Amino acid sequence: MLSWLIVIGTCLLIVLIFFIFNIFDTASNRKKLPPFYSGWIPWLGCALEFGKNPLRFINLMGHKLGPVYTLKVAGERMTFLTDAKDFHNFFQSTDVDFQKAVQSSVQKIASVTEEAFFKNHTKIHDTVKGRLSFHKLPPFCETLHSKFKEHLVGIKNQITIKNGCEFEAELNDLVRSTMYKSIMDNLFGDGVLPTHDEAAFKEFEKNFLIFDEQFEYAARLPKIFLREWTKSKNWLLQMFTRVTKQCMQTIPADVESRSLLQTLIAVIDDDFSPNWSMMMLWASLANAIPITFWTLCMIYQHQRVLEKVQSEVRQVLKENEKCDESTLALMPYTRQCILEAIRLRSPGIFTRRVIKEFRVKGYNIPVGDLLMVSPFWAHRNSQQFPDPEEFKPERWENIEKNSFPESFIAFGGGRYQCPGRWFALLEMHIYVSLFVSLFDCKLLNGVPDLCELHLVGTQQPVQKCPVVLSLAK
Ligand code: HEM
Ligand SMILES: *[C@@H]1O[C@H](CO)[C@@H](O)[C@H](O)[C@H]1NC(C)=O
Ligand SMILES: *[C@@H]1O[C@H](CO)[C@@H](O)[C@H](O)[C@H]1NC(C)=O
Repeated sequence: MLSWLIVIGTCLLIVLIFFIFNIFDTASNRKKLPPFYSGWIPWLGCALEFGKNPLRFINLMGHKLGPVYTLKVAGERMTFLTDAKDFHNFFQSTDVDFQKAVQSSVQKIASVTEEAFFKNHTKIHDTVKGRLSFHKLPPFCETLHSKFKEHLVGIKNQITIKNGCEFEAELNDLVRSTMYKSIMDNLFGDGVLPTHDEAAFKEFEKNFLIFDEQFEYAARLPKIFLREWTKSKNWLLQMFTRVTKQCMQTIPADVESRSLLQTLIAVIDDDFSPNWSMMMLWASLANAIPITFWTLCMIYQHQRVLEKVQSEVRQVLKENEKCDESTLALMPYTRQCILEAIRLRSPGIFTRRVIKEFRVKGYNIPVGDLLMVSPFWAHRNSQQFPDPEEFKPERWENIEKNSFPESFIAFGGGRYQCPGRWFALLEMHIYVSLFVSLFDCKLLNGVPDLCELHLVGTQQPVQKCPVVLSLAK
């Protein structure tokens, strides 16, 4: 009941905002501006195309209006670029700015003030980037492997107790509960977040899921419309207030042995630590874990792919008790499956703010516009990815190990590209190979549909994904 009131209230507000900002807007006298869609587009609409299905809607508009077009959503002008030839410019141009595009969202989500954001964001970005850089990753191989193994062997034992046959589970829950704990222990310190006590973890998980699910709305709406979300956010902030206080006292002098959390709070002033740490936790869990779930779905759904992955991982992991870079290098096909799943489940959009008139394809995009690119749709361009909807790991066969082709933009680009990308690939590689080596898995209802309600971040499944697990033969 309450949530309906919130939805209705939100809609009313958006209608209001819409009228205040739009009613005098006439695109006709600005010839060199991109085509403008002047329909009724509430961001979180009760009805109508955009609100119902923003992900499809932005693609539809691309077909209708061309490779550069503008939507006005809740008072904000968003100009979309859909031609891959323009992406380089989007990432590299000094006329557009990452920080000015995301600042207000970070303020709404984590209560970091505008001043503090602009003063400290670059330093924080560079700190995370340094801690998770490619050459700092090898030690994570072993610690990730041992945590994943601990949790997956826990599942394996449950199957064995059930007399060695079969075990029904929901795949998304299973991946989440085994991965969350492992990643939290690896990046934030063993047991620093509530991973060791099952009841405490469940409470954390409940709050984090609410925080994640409504993240996108929270980034744009005033918090009065998001009672439940605000409660979960405050719960997480309180947790981080306790945790960072304790953590502050135990930061080792040796820089190399610091966890990501310790590295982070060593450069942030005490007052700000809980807020930035919460953002960091979200960034590290929100995309990588759902995409791991999708990867497993797609592998188990395609018999031919499955057999190839199985023969690769079972061979390699049988002969190597330990997991390091050289072990992973022996499982290139598994990595190709992961890249292919990332391609198909990439974030809906990411964004930059135009700070100096931006020229593209003969149009002048005015200062103040949000410039948008959609990796989700870019990765469905059949020129760069023939049969784009097909799950074809082989298309990644000749990709170099530590670079991506220009047409693959899942991790953004430019100065503030995702600093966690190598870590993400590493954790997924280890987890997926372990999972397939341990379990056979039958998807009872196939691969779930993807939810098209969100544009920020990767897609969640619409339906549950019930599976029957059994021990690998
Ligand atoms: C497959 C998984 C992932 C995907 C698809 C992904 C994607 C992205 C994208 C698109 C951005 C924005 C970049 C831009 O606008 O140019 C971003 C930012 C970020 N990502 Fe990731 N990411 C993933 C995993 C991770 C992981 C595992 C971590 C941490 C361990 C992480 C940490 C971050 C952080 C901290 C930022 C913010 C950077 C800043 O504010 O300067 N990401 N990510
Ligand atoms: C962190 O978040 C809390 C709770 O929303 C807020 O009261 C506080 O001002 C924030 N801290 C800083 C230093 O921005
Ligand atoms: C971040 O910015 C604020 C300015 O609002 C400042 O007071 C704070 O000390 C800064 N530094 C760090 C490292 O958090």
